Amino acid sequence: MCHDHSGQYKKFPTDCGHPAYTEKNFGGKTFSPVNLNVSAKTVGKTSLKNCGTCHFYGGGGDGVKHGDLNSSIFSAKRDLDVHMSKEGANFTCTDCHTTINHEISGRYYKQRASLNRQATALGSHLSCESCHGATPHKDSAKLNDHTDKVSCQACHIPSFARGKVSTMMRWDWSTAGKFTDDKKPIEKKDADGRPTYHTMKGDMTWEKNVTPIYAWYNGAMKYTTMKDTLPDERPVKINQPLGDYNDPEARIFPFKYFQGSQVYDAQANRLVISKLFGPKGSGAYWSDYDWQRSVEIGMTESGEKFSGKIGFVDTVMYWPVTHMVAPKENSLKCAVCHARDGRLASVAGFYLPGRDRVIWLDKIGWSLLILTIIGVLAHGFGRIIFRLKRRK
Ligand code: HEC
Ligand code: HEC
Ligand code: HEC
Ligand code: HEC
Ligand code: HEC
Repeated sequence: MCHDHSGQYKKFPTDCGHPAYTEKNFGGKTFSPVNLNVSAKTVGKTSLKNCGTCHFYGGGGDGVKHGDLNSSIFSAKRDLDVHMSKEGANFTCTDCHTTINHEISGRYYKQRASLNRQATALGSHLSCESCHGATPHKDSAKLNDHTDKVSCQACHIPSFARGKVSTMMRWDWSTAGKFTDDKKPIEKKDADGRPTYHTMKGDMTWEKNVTPIYAWYNGAMKYTTMKDTLPDERPVKINQPLGDYNDPEARIFPFKYFQGSQVYDAQANRLVISKLFGPKGSGAYWSDYDWQRSVEIGMTESGEKFSGKIGFVDTVMYWPVTHMVAPKENSLKCAVCHARDGRLASVAGFYLPGRDRVIWLDKIGWSLLILTIIGVLAHGFGRIIFRLKRRK
């Protein structure tokens, strides 16, 4: 799959990434097995196609999960992605994700890229700084001043899913399971053909050209797992980027903010595993449409405890945005951040010029206001006394 250039690989929908090994039918489509002889004759270096065939379609379709990795990158213009566009650097994935003994460099499993921004033990070009350095701006020292606190991605990826491919932003499972009066499943689609409602999945929202949200991020995430009692805070953060202003490894980083509503154990206050896939009568939600049963069976089959009481809880996930770097003219302008209601309005823990109030200035303002009120009151009071005097 990484070196074949015949393009035969196609994921079989229910086989966890495996292709069909014998001819199979699914959803009205025929899946043929890969002809290994043909494959062997086309072996070559990895391309955008090799990696993108999997990574652009995560979540069951084009760009569903990663708004910054989708099929529009195959034919990207320079303003979509300066690095992978043929008009730009014409990179393939492995120009940045360099490999050692077939281990593809990435920060999720082995080590955090931020521990050494020039090069990591796994790959020499993984971070932006490894090619551009930490002070890449030739004409602006002020911009270079930012790079210890603001990630390159924050300024250089003004929005994601910028091509023609939308990404899923919200998935509400609680509305699944509705049928037409004659018991047929319901499917509604938006103008791009994306499902906005499906009986199996509930309501879904899709967006293009999405503004990221920003948070401090030192390369590590805290995850909420099924073992954790949920905090009171809603929405529940399924994952949460770590770091703050005082953490020298942390930068302000852009994220896709993916919202959801999902079934949970409402008494134990924990996440659950529900059984979705299976034949009719097995308790699988997609056959029997009974959340209670699907959670009971899912939890039993995975050997977990379940109180017996289900509910729906609002959740959120943070997806790092790191591809689709735009040309320099499209970088974020100063006032996009340095403003009261700018993009960093909710990123806490530090003083940001233009956004935050200057205390002494505010104090003078308030003092003037209070003096004015005293003045008005004194004047009014004076008039009352004056009138009382006249009546006498
Ligand atoms: C493997 C080396 C390499 C890595 C890693 C890399 N770049 Fe680049 N970058 C380049 C090259 C080469 C170009 C010139 C492409 C062009 O403009 O045609 C470029 C161009 C750019 C430009 C466009 C400048 C302009 O003139 O418009 C920006 C902005 C940029 N990179 C930011 C980043 C960011 C942000 C990252 C990290 C996500 C990154 N780069 C990672 C090599 C790299
Ligand atoms: C310009 C350099 C560059 C190119 C080209 C590039 N990546 Fe990345 N990629 C990165 C950086 C930087 C990260 C984030 C590493 C980190 O967290 O510091 C990353 C992260 C990832 C991740 C981890 C998940 C995530 O969302 O952070 C995946 C998966 C990934 N890249 C796949 C790909 C694929 C597939 C391609 C080719 C289609 C590709 N990348 C091309 C620089 C690049
Ligand atoms: C057959 C599908 C498939 C192909 C082809 C594929 N990947 Fe992946 N890749 C995955 C899956 C699945 C994961 C997540 C692995 C996991 O979580 O166990 C992953 C993980 C990654 C990560 C994250 C690793 C980390 O440490 O952060 C990167 C980066 C990545 N792939 C890049 C690439 C590149 C570059 C190529 C092309 C040379 C490629 N992948 C080809 C399926 C694929
Ligand atoms: C605070 C926002 C901000 C941050 C953070 C930032 N940049 Fe920039 N960058 C800009 C702007 C704005 C320009 C355009 C400057 C111009 O046109 O004069 C630019 C220009 C560039 C250029 C083109 C070369 C040049 O001198 O204009 C490259 C390459 C680049 N940035 C890479 C990076 C990398 C790599 C990082 C992280 C180490 C980074 N930038 C961090 C805002 C930022
Ligand atoms: C992505 C958001 C973002 C953008 C865009 C941005 N800044 Fe900032 N800026 C910050 C943050 C965050 C800090 C606080 C950093 C710190 O305290 O170290 C900051 C701090 C500053 C400071 C005060 C600290 C210092 O280094 O003197 C000045 C001045 C400043 N920025 C000017 C600019 C100018 C000028 C531009 C446009 C060329 C710009 N900023 C663009 C986020 C941004």
